[in-house]
Amino acid sequence: MTHCFTNNANATPIICLTAAEYNDWLTHQADLTQNWLNNTAYQAKPGQFSLIPDQDGLISQVVLGVEDHNDMWNLAVLPKSLPAGDYRVEQHSNLQALAWGLACYEFNRYLPSKKNKEFAKLYYDSDDTANLSAQVAAIALTRDMINTPASDMMPSNIADAAKTLAKQFGASVSETIGDDLLEQNYPTIHAVGRASIHTPRLIDMRWGKPADKKITLVGKGVCFDSGGLDIKPGKGMRWMKKDMGGAAHVLGLANMIMAANLPVQLRVLIPAVENAISDNAFRPGDVITTRSGKTVEIDNTDAEGRLVLCDALTEACSENPALIIDFATLTGAARVAVGTEIAACFSNNDDIASLLKAESESTQDPAWQLPLHKPYKSMLSSTIADIANSAETGYGGAITAALYLQEFVTNECDWLHFDVMAFNTRERPGRPKGGEAMGLRAAFNLIAKLS
Ligand code: BES
Ligand code: ZN
Ligand code: ZN
Repeated sequence: MTHCFTNNANATPIICLTAAEYNDWLTHQADLTQNWLNNTAYQAKPGQFSLIPDQDGLISQVVLGVEDHNDMWNLAVLPKSLPAGDYRVEQHSNLQALAWGLACYEFNRYLPSKKNKEFAKLYYDSDDTANLSAQVAAIALTRDMINTPASDMMPSNIADAAKTLAKQFGASVSETIGDDLLEQNYPTIHAVGRASIHTPRLIDMRWGKPADKKITLVGKGVCFDSGGLDIKPGKGMRWMKKDMGGAAHVLGLANMIMAANLPVQLRVLIPAVENAISDNAFRPGDVITTRSGKTVEIDNTDAEGRLVLCDALTEACSENPALIIDFATLTGAARVAVGTEIAACFSNNDDIASLLKAESESTQDPAWQLPLHKPYKSMLSSTIADIANSAETGYGGAITAALYLQEFVTNECDWLHFDVMAFNTRERPGRPKGGEAMGLRAAFNLIAKLS
């Protein structure tokens, strides 16, 4: 994805100005520029830009209104709006350059005529160019996987994505597929996925040196969430192709980690299933003995994410990694709590949560911690099993889901859990509608700090 950046130092300059700076700047410009901007009613409102011509009608510079010079998305309105060509900015941050790259993203798998469109390029001359391009590519992978319809992003397709990535970086991938899940003792992954013609599986990717700190990522890979027998209404089902967003996040994060060659021993576990309806579907009222030995009563087949994750978390903990991070489109309740554009996060170690908060701020990747409030655990009690998979009411639903997961994380393991939307429901500069990485860059920086 080097195509978003250029090394042409003679590129057209872009001037970023706040409304307050604009008037003073204007008085120092040539008459032609002043006349052009005044006559076109330019005001330097945030996001408003103007292409300023020279005597020959060529673009001499671009002026762009910004609200706050530190906002990483300032330049992101430009790549798709400016004529293709090379541009440069006097002063910009790595984050602003990253946003430029992210703004060049398009999902055109099913629009062949739109492929290979050229966008404006940003002059970027730094040791970090390769790193930046790698981050853009990693997030594009996450977005692409989420945007791909379920019919083309079933468990085997997620496995293919993992294998392609592994090949690129010399990682290894193994899979436990179908009835082997029962044989290898992954009963909940099997139960949720068994009704689908697209065989359920656990994908297991490993990379790095054994001497380095072990980090294990776990991603919810529900390729389509119909709700199961507790079927979702049409509106709630419409976007459930994105329910493998957790899987897309951990592969994007793994991509970043491997591209940056972080000194970690990486493991990625993805339980990949379709939550489908068939004669052999799991049912409300069923009891499943999980990998951990704990029994779970199915209160609601639509609370399937925590079921596939619990067996994967048990396996993750068995190797005692320094840190487990999971990503999941786990609850609608998390969206009620923090909205669609903030990643809700939980941790059994407040130091990790504080570090994450700091990285969330430094990367401008919003994440907000919610509490693992123990007293709510009783909402998951069952009269016939150790735990139920959902509570009677939806109150605190993101918290009860996280508490369910915590039951499967051994106390010695540091654990960070992200409940994410994984999807932009509205368009913003650099963030088109559709699949989105949320909390991923914050998590990457956290791992980089810890490694
Ligand atoms: N995949 C959904 C959660 C979801 C819905 C995330 C919409 C983002 C947007 C999950 O499997 C689910 O259905 N959760 C239920 C849990 C309930 C049955 C306890 C929910 O949130 O309603
Ligand atoms: Zn569900
Ligand atoms: Zn789901």
